[in-house]
Amino acid sequence: MKRVKVSSPGKLMLMGDHAVVHDRQCLVTAVNQRLWVTIEETSQTGEILIDAPDVGLDQFVVSLKQGELTDLPKAAKFVVQAIRNFDQFHPVKTGLHLTTASDFNATFGFGSSSAVTVASIKALAELQQLALSEAQLFKLAYQTVLDIQGVGSGFDLAAAIWGGTLLFSTGGKEIRPLVVKNLPLVVGYTGVKADTATLVKQVGGFLSAAPELVTPIFDTIQESVIQAEQDLEETNWAHLGQLMNLHQGLLNALGVSSPELERLVFAARSAGAYGAKLSGAGGGDCMIALVDNKTRSVVEEAIQTAGGQVLPVELSAPGIKVEE
Ligand code: MEV
Repeated sequence: MKRVKVSSPGKLMLMGDHAVVHDRQCLVTAVNQRLWVTIEETSQTGEILIDAPDVGLDQFVVSLKQGELTDLPKAAKFVVQAIRNFDQFHPVKTGLHLTTASDFNATFGFGSSSAVTVASIKALAELQQLALSEAQLFKLAYQTVLDIQGVGSGFDLAAAIWGGTLLFSTGGKEIRPLVVKNLPLVVGYTGVKADTATLVKQVGGFLSAAPELVTPIFDTIQESVIQAEQDLEETNWAHLGQLMNLHQGLLNALGVSSPELERLVFAARSAGAYGAKLSGAGGGDCMIALVDNKTRSVVEEAIQTAGGQVLPVELSAPGIKVEE
């Protein structure tokens, strides 16, 4: 029976949060925290056996073809839907035993759902010796995320596939790798787990209710993404920091910041960071602060004193990899 192991990285949104769901762009970087999926063929045709100790799944059995996903734990939903979507195009003729392992805690908001979706599809393609292009992999994975979550730009899937730092447009209309040297970021975790889909829907509701107010916010975020891309190229950290602060204010205006995020953001700024903002959907999860060699340790300490946990991550990590 054949067996394949694939790994994919987590991500951090740098700029463009929320606006990228609404036909705009964002900057995203892959982080050196990875998730591994091993898939082994079994003789139990039509059955998927899942072991995902990180999310409490032990010998969890589900049908390949049928059954509602609503009762499944979140991690299993993405895996099972990914396999079912793949099966529609490339029928799976054996049973499957899927095992996951992860460097990162699923609560940090580094994108464990997108990483597991992408890695599962890639592992299946490898099992079938199918040359799936990055674009085809993205398409299947994006369909899976929309099936489960109903909303999302797909930026996290692109980071998990391509790795590095990317300029990304909604739904993957544009995915452009950027050359970014040593972006000096500190990542602070609030200790609060946020639900991305709920926050995305909340902002979508705000847009529908008051397009005349929310559209200009998205347009300004979009402009900040364009200027930030230039700053990354020119390593203009002072200007990038200003853009991050502006972006944070706009995310706060959209209603997705939180007392915990604000505390860490202000602590980082007071300690001398060029700028700081939440990263992702908001409501909790992580914030990022732009520092330099002189301010890094002071900012890290300030984030910790304000109740945050500093996460040691490297940016622009490699994308999806077949390991075995
Ligand atoms: C969530 O990590 C980032 C959002 O922009 C949602 C998305 O792009 O899918 C809020």
